[in-house]
Amino acid sequence: MTATVPQAGTDRPDYSALIQPERVHGSLYTDPRIFAEELERIWYRTWVYVGHESEVPQPGDYVRKNIGPQDLVMTRDREGQVHLLVNRCAHRANLVCEDERGNSNSFRCPYHGWTFRNNGELLGYPYHQGYGGRGKLNLGMATVPRVESYRGFVFGSFAEDGPTLTEHLGAAAGEIDRLCRLSPEGEVELNAGWLKHRTRANWKLLAENETDGYHPQFVHGSIFSVTGSPIGALYSEKSTAVTRDLGNGHSENDLRPEFRRHGEPMRWFGTTPDRVPDYVAKMRQAYGDEAEQILVEGAPHVMIFPNLFIAEIQVFVIQPLSVDECVQHSTAVQLKGAPELNRRMISQSIGSVGPAGMLLADDTEMYERNQVGAEQLRPEWLEIRRGMHRERVDERGLRVGTATDETGMRGFWSHYKTLMEDDK
Ligand code: FES
Ligand code: FE
Repeated sequence: MTATVPQAGTDRPDYSALIQPERVHGSLYTDPRIFAEELERIWYRTWVYVGHESEVPQPGDYVRKNIGPQDLVMTRDREGQVHLLVNRCAHRANLVCEDERGNSNSFRCPYHGWTFRNNGELLGYPYHQGYGGRGKLNLGMATVPRVESYRGFVFGSFAEDGPTLTEHLGAAAGEIDRLCRLSPEGEVELNAGWLKHRTRANWKLLAENETDGYHPQFVHGSIFSVTGSPIGALYSEKSTAVTRDLGNGHSENDLRPEFRRHGEPMRWFGTTPDRVPDYVAKMRQAYGDEAEQILVEGAPHVMIFPNLFIAEIQVFVIQPLSVDECVQHSTAVQLKGAPELNRRMISQSIGSVGPAGMLLADDTEMYERNQVGAEQLRPEWLEIRRGMHRERVDERGLRVGTATDETGMRGFWSHYKTLMEDDK
Protein backbone atom coordinates (compact mmCIF):
# COMPACT_ATOMS: atom_id res chain seq x y z
CA MET A 1 0.00 0.00 0.00
CA THR A 2 1.06 3.57 -0.59
CA ALA A 3 1.50 6.17 2.12
CA THR A 4 -1.29 7.78 4.06
CA VAL A 5 -4.08 9.36 2.06
CA PRO A 6 -4.37 13.12 2.75
CA GLN A 7 -7.67 13.96 4.41
CA ALA A 8 -9.80 17.10 4.25
CA GLY A 9 -11.19 17.01 7.77
CA THR A 10 -13.83 14.48 6.77
CA ASP A 11 -13.55 10.76 6.44
CA ARG A 12 -13.43 11.15 2.66
CA PRO A 13 -10.13 11.39 0.76
CA ASP A 14 -9.19 14.93 -0.21
CA TYR A 15 -9.15 14.70 -3.99
CA SER A 16 -7.76 18.23 -4.42
CA ALA A 17 -4.69 17.19 -2.48
CA LEU A 18 -4.39 13.84 -4.26
CA ILE A 19 -4.77 15.28 -7.78
CA GLN A 20 -2.45 18.18 -8.49
CA PRO A 21 -1.72 19.89 -11.81
CA GLU A 22 1.63 18.14 -12.22
CA ARG A 23 1.17 14.88 -10.35
CA VAL A 24 -1.31 12.40 -8.88
CA HIS A 25 -1.06 10.39 -5.67
CA GLY A 26 -0.29 6.66 -5.79
CA SER A 27 -3.19 5.83 -3.46
CA LEU A 28 -5.59 6.68 -6.30
CA TYR A 29 -4.55 3.35 -7.83
CA THR A 30 -4.30 1.27 -4.66
CA ASP A 31 -6.82 2.38 -2.02
CA PRO A 32 -9.97 0.19 -1.95
CA ARG A 33 -11.95 3.07 -0.37
CA ILE A 34 -11.21 5.24 -3.38
CA PHE A 35 -12.29 2.43 -5.68
CA ALA A 36 -15.57 2.16 -3.75
CA GLU A 37 -16.13 5.90 -4.19
CA GLU A 38 -15.34 5.64 -7.91
CA LEU A 39 -18.03 3.01 -8.33
CA GLU A 40 -20.55 5.28 -6.69
CA ARG A 41 -19.50 8.58 -8.26
CA ILE A 42 -18.27 7.53 -11.70
CA TRP A 43 -19.35 4.06 -12.74
CA TYR A 44 -22.84 4.18 -11.22
CA ARG A 45 -23.49 7.80 -12.07
CA THR A 46 -21.95 9.01 -15.30
CA TRP A 47 -22.52 7.65 -18.81
CA VAL A 48 -20.61 4.40 -19.35
CA TYR A 49 -20.20 2.62 -22.68
CA VAL A 50 -21.97 -0.76 -22.59
CA GLY A 51 -22.30 -2.30 -26.04
CA HIS A 52 -23.12 -1.77 -29.69
CA GLU A 53 -26.51 -2.08 -31.33
CA SER A 54 -25.03 -4.39 -33.98
CA GLU A 55 -24.51 -7.00 -31.22
CA VAL A 56 -28.31 -7.35 -30.90
CA PRO A 57 -29.53 -6.76 -34.47
CA GLN A 58 -32.78 -8.79 -34.29
CA PRO A 59 -35.76 -8.60 -31.90
CA GLY A 60 -35.12 -11.11 -29.09
CA ASP A 61 -31.33 -10.90 -29.40
CA TYR A 62 -29.45 -10.52 -26.15
CA VAL A 63 -25.84 -10.32 -25.01
CA ARG A 64 -24.25 -10.21 -21.55
CA LYS A 65 -22.58 -6.87 -20.76
CA ASN A 66 -21.46 -4.91 -17.71
CA ILE A 67 -20.95 -1.59 -16.03
CA GLY A 68 -17.94 -2.22 -13.80
CA PRO A 69 -18.80 -5.21 -11.59
CA GLN A 70 -22.52 -4.93 -12.46
CA ASP A 71 -23.70 -7.84 -14.61
CA LEU A 72 -26.09 -6.65 -17.35
CA VAL A 73 -28.04 -8.16 -20.21
CA MET A 74 -28.42 -5.98 -23.29
CA THR A 75 -31.60 -6.99 -25.10
CA ARG A 76 -33.68 -5.93 -28.08
CA ASP A 77 -37.43 -6.20 -27.58
CA ARG A 78 -40.21 -6.90 -30.09
CA GLU A 79 -40.51 -3.19 -30.92
CA GLY A 80 -36.80 -2.98 -31.63
CA GLN A 81 -35.94 -1.03 -28.49
CA VAL A 82 -32.67 -1.78 -26.71
CA HIS A 83 -32.78 -2.40 -22.93
CA LEU A 84 -30.13 -2.89 -20.28
CA LEU A 85 -31.37 -5.31 -17.64
CA VAL A 86 -29.57 -5.86 -14.37
CA ASN A 87 -28.90 -9.59 -14.33
CA ARG A 88 -30.50 -10.29 -10.97
CA CYS A 89 -33.75 -12.03 -10.20
CA ALA A 90 -36.41 -9.96 -8.47
CA HIS A 91 -37.27 -12.92 -6.20
CA ARG A 92 -34.12 -13.97 -4.35
CA ALA A 93 -31.40 -12.26 -6.41
CA ASN A 94 -30.22 -15.24 -8.45
CA LEU A 95 -28.33 -14.58 -11.69
CA VAL A 96 -31.05 -14.89 -14.33
CA CYS A 97 -29.16 -15.08 -17.63
CA GLU A 98 -26.29 -17.54 -17.87
CA ASP A 99 -25.53 -17.58 -21.62
CA GLU A 100 -23.20 -14.99 -23.12
CA ARG A 101 -25.59 -14.33 -26.00
CA GLY A 102 -28.63 -15.71 -27.73
CA ASN A 103 -32.17 -14.97 -28.89
CA SER A 104 -35.17 -15.23 -26.61
CA ASN A 105 -38.20 -13.14 -25.77
CA SER A 106 -38.00 -14.15 -22.13
CA PHE A 107 -35.63 -15.34 -19.43
CA ARG A 108 -36.32 -17.99 -16.81
CA CYS A 109 -34.57 -17.85 -13.47
CA PRO A 110 -33.11 -21.29 -12.68
CA TYR A 111 -33.73 -21.07 -8.93
CA HIS A 112 -37.57 -21.04 -8.58
CA GLY A 113 -38.61 -20.60 -12.19
CA TRP A 114 -39.78 -16.99 -12.31
CA THR A 115 -39.88 -15.74 -15.90
CA PHE A 116 -39.24 -12.24 -17.24
CA ARG A 117 -39.85 -10.59 -20.62
CA ASN A 118 -36.76 -9.28 -22.41
CA ASN A 119 -37.73 -5.76 -21.34
CA GLY A 120 -37.48 -6.88 -17.70
CA GLU A 121 -41.22 -7.22 -16.89
CA LEU A 122 -42.28 -10.17 -14.73
CA LEU A 123 -44.16 -12.72 -16.87
CA GLY A 124 -45.00 -15.39 -14.34
CA TYR A 125 -44.09 -17.35 -11.23
CA PRO A 126 -44.75 -21.03 -10.46
CA TYR A 127 -47.32 -22.18 -7.86
CA HIS A 128 -48.93 -18.75 -7.98
CA GLN A 129 -51.37 -19.47 -5.16
CA GLY A 130 -48.48 -18.78 -2.80
CA TYR A 131 -48.83 -15.16 -3.86
CA GLY A 132 -52.63 -15.11 -3.93
CA GLY A 133 -52.90 -15.90 -7.65
CA ARG A 134 -51.52 -14.86 -11.04
CA GLY A 135 -50.58 -11.27 -11.85
CA LYS A 136 -50.41 -10.21 -8.21
CA LEU A 137 -46.73 -9.28 -8.17
CA ASN A 138 -45.18 -6.29 -9.85
CA LEU A 139 -41.56 -7.33 -9.52
CA GLY A 140 -39.59 -7.03 -12.74
CA MET A 141 -35.84 -7.27 -13.31
CA ALA A 142 -34.24 -3.90 -12.64
CA THR A 143 -33.17 -1.89 -15.66
CA VAL A 144 -30.44 0.70 -16.09
CA PRO A 145 -32.53 3.89 -15.81
CA ARG A 146 -30.98 5.78 -18.70
CA VAL A 147 -29.99 4.11 -21.95
CA GLU A 148 -29.01 6.09 -25.03
CA SER A 149 -27.09 5.31 -28.14
CA TYR A 150 -24.94 7.41 -30.38
CA ARG A 151 -24.44 6.06 -33.91
CA GLY A 152 -25.04 2.54 -32.60
CA PHE A 153 -22.78 2.89 -29.53
CA VAL A 154 -24.99 2.16 -26.52
CA PHE A 155 -24.27 3.92 -23.23
CA GLY A 156 -25.99 3.48 -19.87
CA SER A 157 -26.22 5.57 -16.72
CA PHE A 158 -27.41 4.34 -13.34
CA ALA A 159 -28.33 7.94 -12.44
CA GLU A 160 -31.97 8.84 -13.04
CA ASP A 161 -30.93 12.26 -14.27
CA GLY A 162 -27.83 14.27 -15.08
CA PRO A 163 -26.11 15.48 -18.23
CA THR A 164 -27.46 13.98 -21.46
CA LEU A 165 -25.30 11.59 -23.47
CA THR A 166 -24.73 14.33 -26.05
CA GLU A 167 -23.51 16.67 -23.32
CA HIS A 168 -21.27 13.96 -21.89
CA LEU A 169 -19.73 13.08 -25.26
CA GLY A 170 -19.18 16.71 -26.26
CA ALA A 171 -16.27 16.97 -28.67
CA ALA A 172 -15.71 13.20 -28.56
CA ALA A 173 -18.91 12.62 -30.58
CA GLY A 174 -17.12 13.99 -33.64
CA GLU A 175 -14.53 11.23 -33.31
CA ILE A 176 -17.24 8.55 -33.39
CA ASP A 177 -18.60 10.30 -36.50
CA ARG A 178 -15.14 10.14 -38.03
CA LEU A 179 -14.99 6.37 -37.44
CA CYS A 180 -18.44 5.88 -39.01
CA ARG A 181 -17.43 7.92 -42.05
CA LEU A 182 -14.88 5.26 -42.92
CA SER A 183 -17.77 2.98 -43.86
CA PRO A 184 -19.25 3.52 -47.32
CA GLU A 185 -22.62 3.15 -45.59
CA GLY A 186 -21.72 5.42 -42.68
CA GLU A 187 -22.10 2.69 -40.06
CA VAL A 188 -19.80 0.74 -37.81
CA GLU A 189 -20.55 -2.77 -36.54
CA LEU A 190 -18.96 -4.44 -33.54
CA ASN A 191 -19.99 -8.01 -34.25
CA ALA A 192 -16.67 -9.77 -34.81
CA GLY A 193 -16.59 -11.22 -31.26
CA TRP A 194 -14.76 -10.03 -28.16
CA LEU A 195 -11.47 -11.02 -26.58
CA LYS A 196 -11.17 -10.61 -22.84
CA HIS A 197 -7.89 -10.03 -21.03
CA ARG A 198 -7.95 -10.06 -17.24
CA THR A 199 -5.37 -7.59 -15.98
CA ARG A 200 -3.94 -7.12 -12.49
CA ALA A 201 -3.98 -3.33 -12.59
CA ASN A 202 -6.17 -0.41 -11.63
CA TRP A 203 -8.49 0.63 -14.45
CA LYS A 204 -7.12 4.19 -14.58
CA LEU A 205 -3.67 3.01 -15.61
CA LEU A 206 -5.32 1.66 -18.78
CA ALA A 207 -7.47 4.73 -19.39
CA GLU A 208 -4.47 7.05 -19.01
CA ASN A 209 -2.30 4.94 -21.29
CA GLU A 210 -4.75 4.92 -24.20
CA THR A 211 -3.67 8.35 -25.41
CA ASP A 212 -0.17 8.31 -23.91
CA GLY A 213 1.93 9.03 -26.98
CA TYR A 214 5.16 8.84 -24.98
CA HIS A 215 5.31 5.04 -24.61
CA PRO A 216 4.77 3.49 -28.08
CA GLN A 217 8.36 3.83 -29.30
CA PHE A 218 9.61 2.00 -26.22
CA VAL A 219 6.88 -0.48 -25.33
CA HIS A 220 5.93 -1.37 -28.90
CA GLY A 221 9.37 -1.11 -30.52
CA SER A 222 9.42 -4.87 -31.21
CA ILE A 223 6.14 -5.02 -33.15
CA PHE A 224 7.02 -1.88 -35.10
CA SER A 225 10.36 -3.32 -36.18
CA VAL A 226 9.02 -6.83 -36.94
CA THR A 227 6.21 -5.48 -39.11
CA GLY A 228 8.14 -2.54 -40.57
CA SER A 229 5.34 -0.32 -39.30
CA PRO A 230 5.55 3.46 -39.71
CA ILE A 231 3.34 3.92 -36.61
CA GLY A 232 6.26 4.45 -34.22
CA ALA A 233 7.27 7.62 -36.05
CA LEU A 234 3.83 9.11 -35.34
CA TYR A 235 4.77 9.17 -31.67
CA SER A 236 8.15 10.88 -31.74
CA GLU A 237 9.46 14.35 -31.01
CA LYS A 238 9.50 15.04 -34.75
CA SER A 239 5.86 14.05 -35.28
CA THR A 240 3.33 16.72 -36.21
CA ALA A 241 0.54 14.65 -34.62
CA VAL A 242 -1.01 16.16 -31.50
CA THR A 243 -2.54 15.03 -28.22
CA ARG A 244 -5.82 16.76 -27.45
CA ASP A 245 -7.88 17.08 -24.30
CA LEU A 246 -11.43 16.80 -25.66
CA GLY A 247 -13.08 17.81 -22.37
CA ASN A 248 -15.18 15.69 -19.95
CA GLY A 249 -12.21 13.36 -19.44
CA HIS A 250 -12.03 12.37 -23.13
CA SER A 251 -8.78 12.67 -25.07
CA GLU A 252 -7.25 11.80 -28.40
CA ASN A 253 -4.05 11.36 -30.29
CA ASP A 254 -4.90 13.25 -33.46
CA LEU A 255 -2.71 11.65 -36.11
CA ARG A 256 -4.25 13.57 -39.02
CA PRO A 257 -1.49 16.18 -39.34
CA GLU A 258 1.00 13.39 -40.11
CA PHE A 259 -1.32 11.64 -42.57
CA ARG A 260 -2.13 14.93 -44.31
CA ARG A 261 1.58 15.67 -44.60
CA HIS A 262 2.05 12.42 -46.51
CA GLY A 263 -1.25 12.80 -48.37
CA GLU A 264 -1.47 9.08 -49.19
CA PRO A 265 -4.90 7.37 -49.10
CA MET A 266 -4.97 4.27 -46.85
CA ARG A 267 -1.57 4.99 -45.28
CA TRP A 268 -3.39 5.08 -41.90
CA PHE A 269 -4.22 1.40 -42.48
CA GLY A 270 -0.68 0.56 -43.58
CA THR A 271 -1.71 -0.16 -47.15
CA THR A 272 -2.37 1.45 -50.55
CA PRO A 273 -5.58 1.86 -52.61
CA ASP A 274 -4.56 -0.85 -55.12
CA ARG A 275 -4.56 -3.45 -52.30
CA VAL A 276 -8.17 -2.67 -51.33
CA PRO A 277 -9.69 -1.53 -54.68
CA ASP A 278 -13.33 -2.42 -53.92
CA TYR A 279 -13.34 -0.47 -50.68
CA VAL A 280 -11.73 2.61 -52.21
CA ALA A 281 -14.15 2.54 -55.17
CA LYS A 282 -17.16 2.27 -52.87
CA MET A 283 -15.89 5.13 -50.70
CA ARG A 284 -15.37 7.36 -53.75
CA GLN A 285 -18.87 6.52 -54.92
CA ALA A 286 -20.40 7.19 -51.51
CA TYR A 287 -18.55 10.37 -50.57
CA GLY A 288 -17.54 11.94 -53.90
CA ASP A 289 -14.97 14.71 -53.53
CA GLU A 290 -14.79 14.23 -49.77
CA ALA A 291 -13.58 10.62 -50.14
CA GLU A 292 -9.90 11.50 -50.65
CA GLN A 293 -9.75 13.43 -47.40
CA ILE A 294 -11.48 10.63 -45.49
CA LEU A 295 -9.13 8.02 -46.97
CA VAL A 296 -6.06 10.10 -46.16
CA GLU A 297 -7.04 11.11 -42.60
CA GLY A 298 -8.11 7.62 -41.45
CA ALA A 299 -9.59 6.55 -38.14
CA PRO A 300 -9.65 8.24 -34.74
CA HIS A 301 -7.54 7.30 -31.72
CA VAL A 302 -9.78 8.44 -28.92
CA MET A 303 -10.38 7.54 -25.28
CA ILE A 304 -13.97 8.24 -24.21
CA PHE A 305 -14.26 8.59 -20.44
CA PRO A 306 -14.38 6.34 -18.51
CA ASN A 307 -14.12 3.11 -20.49
CA LEU A 308 -14.35 3.25 -24.31
CA PHE A 309 -11.18 3.36 -26.35
CA ILE A 310 -11.37 3.53 -30.14
CA ALA A 311 -7.90 2.69 -31.42
CA GLU A 312 -8.25 3.18 -35.17
CA ILE A 313 -9.14 -0.38 -36.14
CA GLN A 314 -9.96 -1.84 -32.72
CA VAL A 315 -12.32 -0.98 -29.93
CA PHE A 316 -11.40 -1.62 -26.31
CA VAL A 317 -13.70 -1.50 -23.31
CA ILE A 318 -12.26 -1.26 -19.80
CA GLN A 319 -14.16 -3.06 -17.05
CA PRO A 320 -12.95 -2.47 -13.49
CA LEU A 321 -13.48 -5.37 -11.04
CA SER A 322 -11.62 -4.17 -7.97
CA VAL A 323 -8.99 -1.59 -7.08
CA ASP A 324 -6.25 -3.68 -8.65
CA GLU A 325 -8.03 -5.80 -11.23
CA CYS A 326 -9.86 -5.18 -14.45
CA VAL A 327 -10.81 -6.82 -17.73
CA GLN A 328 -9.91 -5.39 -21.11
CA HIS A 329 -12.47 -6.33 -23.75
CA SER A 330 -11.33 -5.88 -27.33
CA THR A 331 -12.74 -6.37 -30.80
CA ALA A 332 -11.99 -5.48 -34.41
CA VAL A 333 -13.88 -2.56 -35.92
CA GLN A 334 -16.12 -3.68 -38.78
CA LEU A 335 -17.22 -1.11 -41.34
CA LYS A 336 -20.62 -1.74 -42.89
CA GLY A 337 -20.31 -2.36 -46.63
CA ALA A 338 -16.54 -2.92 -46.51
CA PRO A 339 -15.92 -6.71 -46.41
CA GLU A 340 -12.50 -6.37 -48.00
CA LEU A 341 -11.26 -4.14 -45.21
CA ASN A 342 -13.13 -6.01 -42.49
CA ARG A 343 -11.26 -9.26 -43.16
CA ARG A 344 -7.97 -7.41 -42.81
CA MET A 345 -9.13 -5.64 -39.67
CA ILE A 346 -9.88 -8.98 -38.03
CA SER A 347 -6.53 -10.50 -38.92
CA GLN A 348 -4.65 -7.36 -37.84
CA SER A 349 -6.56 -7.41 -34.56
CA ILE A 350 -5.68 -11.06 -33.94
CA GLY A 351 -2.04 -10.16 -34.54
CA SER A 352 -2.09 -7.21 -32.18
CA VAL A 353 -4.59 -8.01 -29.41
CA GLY A 354 -5.26 -11.77 -29.82
CA PRO A 355 -4.00 -14.38 -27.31
CA ALA A 356 -0.60 -14.38 -29.01
CA GLY A 357 -0.86 -10.78 -30.18
CA MET A 358 2.14 -8.52 -30.02
CA LEU A 359 0.62 -5.19 -29.00
CA LEU A 360 -1.76 -5.58 -26.08
CA ALA A 361 0.53 -8.02 -24.29
CA ASP A 362 3.21 -5.32 -24.19
CA ASP A 363 0.81 -2.72 -22.79
CA THR A 364 -0.59 -5.19 -20.27
CA GLU A 365 2.89 -5.97 -19.02
CA MET A 366 3.34 -2.24 -18.40
CA TYR A 367 -0.03 -1.93 -16.59
CA GLU A 368 0.80 -4.77 -14.22
CA ARG A 369 4.32 -3.50 -13.53
CA ASN A 370 2.85 -0.06 -12.91
CA GLN A 371 0.38 -1.46 -10.39
CA VAL A 372 3.16 -3.20 -8.49
CA GLY A 373 5.20 0.01 -8.57
CA ALA A 374 2.29 2.15 -7.38
CA GLU A 375 1.97 -0.11 -4.33
CA GLN A 376 5.52 0.77 -3.22
CA LEU A 377 5.71 3.46 -0.53
CA ARG A 378 7.99 6.07 -2.06
CA PRO A 379 8.00 8.53 -3.79
CA GLU A 380 4.16 8.37 -3.55
CA TRP A 381 3.43 10.40 -6.70
CA LEU A 382 3.01 9.72 -10.43
CA GLU A 383 3.98 12.48 -12.82
CA ILE A 384 1.59 14.01 -15.36
CA ARG A 385 3.46 17.22 -16.19
CA ARG A 386 5.04 16.35 -19.52
CA GLY A 387 4.46 19.12 -22.07
CA MET A 388 2.63 21.51 -19.73
CA HIS A 389 4.89 24.39 -20.75
CA ARG A 390 4.17 23.93 -24.45
CA GLU A 391 0.42 23.30 -24.31
CA ARG A 392 -1.83 25.57 -26.37
CA VAL A 393 -5.54 26.09 -26.85
CA ASP A 394 -6.91 25.38 -30.32
CA GLU A 395 -9.67 27.11 -32.29
CA ARG A 396 -12.32 24.95 -30.56
CA GLY A 397 -11.01 26.00 -27.14
CA LEU A 398 -9.47 22.54 -26.49
CA ARG A 399 -6.05 22.01 -24.94
CA VAL A 400 -3.47 20.59 -27.30
CA GLY A 401 -0.01 19.15 -26.70
CA THR A 402 2.56 17.52 -28.96
CA ALA A 403 2.39 13.83 -29.89
CA THR A 404 4.27 12.69 -26.77
CA ASP A 405 2.77 15.03 -24.17
CA GLU A 406 0.60 14.07 -21.19
CA THR A 407 -2.20 16.47 -22.15
CA GLY A 408 -4.77 13.66 -22.31
CA MET A 409 -3.93 12.44 -18.80
CA ARG A 410 -4.33 15.93 -17.39
CA GLY A 411 -7.75 16.18 -19.01
CA PHE A 412 -8.70 12.77 -17.58
CA TRP A 413 -7.70 13.77 -14.04
CA SER A 414 -9.37 17.15 -14.20
CA HIS A 415 -12.71 15.53 -15.04
CA TYR A 416 -12.15 12.71 -12.55
CA LYS A 417 -11.59 15.26 -9.78
CA THR A 418 -14.79 17.10 -10.69
CA LEU A 419 -16.82 13.88 -10.46
CA MET A 420 -15.20 12.71 -7.23
CA GLU A 421 -15.71 16.06 -5.53
CA ASP A 422 -19.27 16.52 -6.78
CA ASP A 423 -21.51 16.68 -3.74
CA LYS A 424 -24.79 15.95 -5.51
FE1 FES B 1 -35.13 -16.32 -9.09
FE2 FES B 1 -36.21 -17.41 -6.96
S1 FES B 1 -34.35 -16.37 -7.13
S2 FES B 1 -36.95 -17.42 -8.98
FE1 FE C 1 0.43 0.93 -26.05
